[in-house]
Parts: sequence; structure tokens; C-alpha cells
Amino acid sequence: MRVAGIVLDGIDVEFAKPGAKTTVRVLDDINLEVAGEEFVCLLGPSGCGKSTALNLIAGFVPPTRGQAAVDGRPVTGPGPDRGVVFQDANIFPWMTVAKNVAFGPSVQGRLSGRELDERVSHYLDRVGLAGFGDHLPHELSGGMRQRVGLARVLVNDPPVLLMDEPFGALDAQTRITMQELLLELWDRDRKTVLFVTHDIDEALLLGDRVAVMSARPGRIKTVLDVPLPRPRSYDAMADPAFVELKNRLFHELRDEERHVHTGEGE
Ligand SMILES: Nc1ncnc2c1ncn2[C@@H]1O[C@H](COP(=O)(O)OP(=O)(O)O)[C@@H](O)[C@H]1O
Ligand SMILES: [Mg+2]
Repeated sequence: MRVAGIVLDGIDVEFAKPGAKTTVRVLDDINLEVAGEEFVCLLGPSGCGKSTALNLIAGFVPPTRGQAAVDGRPVTGPGPDRGVVFQDANIFPWMTVAKNVAFGPSVQGRLSGRELDERVSHYLDRVGLAGFGDHLPHELSGGMRQRVGLARVLVNDPPVLLMDEPFGALDAQTRITMQELLLELWDRDRKTVLFVTHDIDEALLLGDRVAVMSARPGRIKTVLDVPLPRPRSYDAMADPAFVELKNRLFHELRDEERHVHTGEGE
């Protein structure tokens, strides 16, 4: 089966400045293609427009110029072909874990009760939450809540996953566990992934390619291939190729942070 790719073609996004009649350009001529089943990380300093780019592909933010397309179709709004995962797991606190995961497919209403139960327990199992279906979110750790968030999206089986710093609020150890879980899920069940992060290690560990964004206005500055073998795990970080790429990205990002602090390029 051919899996949907993402194309960003000459994208500008401008927002109105509060209280003023002018606009501020947040994304400037973004061109990027993510092939079907490819895992691309979008890396850049805070405020450079990463979330705006992801929200544009998700259909939450319209472009001022240019066009985004998923699977060859122009993006005109949110759709079931794209699953979005945010830093905040975005789960309903009053629903059990199983009800949270069942929510999307039950709204669609295509599955019988039994099919739905089977599907939910399959995805709970895949994210390591077998046996937790009856728990309420407040009984879970941050990492487990993020597992629920992942299962909630995966249960709809979207060909495209858009992930906006999904592990950004987790402690370092849990974060690595979640990165390894995502690698494992993706190895078994390839999807087209755009993963936003400001963490170099995370981008290199996960991505086939890393697109580096510049600070204000956000542009794609460099796109790097990450030629590390898969399947990958935490140990990939000790690979000399990883260390070399990390060094390169560190200097690229540091240049961008300098621009932010000195206001250069505005
Ligand atoms: N809806 C909006 N209206 C006005 N400004 C916005 C809006 N969304 C984001 N911005 C601004 O756009 C810039 C980029 O934001 P964002 O995409 O969230 O960056 P990142 O995710 O890289 O940290 C920021 O300066 C932010 O304040
Ligand atoms: Mg962001």
C-alpha cells in the first residue's frame, strides 16, 4: 500500500500583531517534502515556528501563501488521515483509559461494540498499557498518560502522524523509554511522521532526516540525512556517526539562538 506523503510548497504564515494593523511573518517560504513512511524531525529553537508548521499540516492554521498537501491533496482543514499528538496527552480526565482510546472510533461509529473493544485492547497492548484499561488518567504517571495519548491516535490508524514535542514534559529516563517505544511502533507499522522537537538527541535518534529551522522568520535552514542503522535504540547515541551529527546540529542551533538573542535578521 502506498502511504501518504507530505508536501509543503512555498509556505508563508503571517499572524496579525495584537493591537496593530501589521502582521508578523512566522514562516517564510517553507519547502519540505516528507515521503510516505518517512520519519522527519523538525528541529529548531523555541519560537521559530515549528508548531505553526505542524498545525498548518494538521489543518489548524491556514497558509498566507503557498500550499500544503497530504497524499497529493491540498490541506483545507483537519482530517482523519492525520493523527496529531501534543505535549499534553490531551486525554479526558473523567474517562477511563479504555474509554479515552475508544473515543475516536466510537465517534466514527463504524465498529460494533465487540470490534471496538478488541481494537482498543490491541492498541493498549501495543503501547504497553495492557491491564490499565479501567484506570482513570489521574492514577497514571506522565509517561503512561502520554502512552494513552499515543494509543488514542494510533487506534484510528492514520497514515500520517504529526507529533509536537510529545515527550517534552517527561523526565529524562521516561522520555528515552517513550522514544524507544515510538521507534518500536514505527518499525512494526510504518507511518509518515513529522516530529517537532528542540532536542538534538531526540531528532537524531528518531529521524530518517532532520530539517533544521532558523529563528524568526522560520525558514528551513538545513536538511540532514541520518544514516544510522535501524532498528535503533538508545545505544545509537554512542555511534560515532551520531556524535558527529550531534556536533554539527549543536553548532547550527547555537547560531540560531545567537540570532534570537541579538535580534539579528529581524
Ligand atoms: N495564533 C497565533 N497568533 C499570533 N502569533 C502566533 C500564533 N501562533 C504562534 N504565534 C507566534 O509565532 C511564533 C512561532 O510560534 P510557534 O510556532 O509556537 O514556535 P515553536 O513551536 O517553534 O516554539 C511565536 O513568536 C509565536 O508567538
Ligand atoms: Mg512549539
